[in-house]
Amino acid sequence: MKISLIGFMGSGKSTVGQSLAQFLNLRYYEMDQMILSASDRESISEIFTLDGELRYRELEIVVAKQLGSITDGAISCGGGIIMNKINLDYLKSQSGKAIYLQAPFDLLAARVSQDANNIRPLFQDVEKARKLLQLRAPLYESYSDVTITVADKKPEDIVREIIRLTSSNLL
Ligand code: S3P
Repeated sequence: MKISLIGFMGSGKSTVGQSLAQFLNLRYYEMDQMILSASDRESISEIFTLDGELRYRELEIVVAKQLGSITDGAISCGGGIIMNKINLDYLKSQSGKAIYLQAPFDLLAARVSQDANNIRPLFQDVEKARKLLQLRAPLYESYSDVTITVADKKPEDIVREIIRLTSSNLL
């Protein structure tokens, strides 16, 4: 089983992905970690500032292509994965499924502002981030196989919901 979690920054893709991997006994893949390993930089924000967003997006496609060939795994994608449709084509190959973790903007903004260890270059300006979500929301919807609303839910509730979908063949 191959499941990719997509959604905006702060939607909980990494937390849910790790827990899902544990429950389903799948290998966990964190795309941003893989992108970082493929670069010669120390952090994602360093890639953005020193090499530019375009370079980050190139590396993202390289990593998505690598993940295209795997048959099993839980994958947490970066929030901008939907900016290049080919990423989703790769992730959905080998019967891969994509789940959109959907949350209201205010919740995402609150979570990102609390996450001091992970600097998000595209969430430095709240109004710009709000517009970015408006632009991306229809893409998350159309590229995913299912949408799960995450507001008011604990990570384990979301994992349970995903497992229920997989075991009843709804995903
Ligand atoms: C990005 C989201 C970040 C990271 C990079 C770009 C985006 O990942 O990949 O800063 O374009 O939304 P998270 O969604 O895990 O924060």
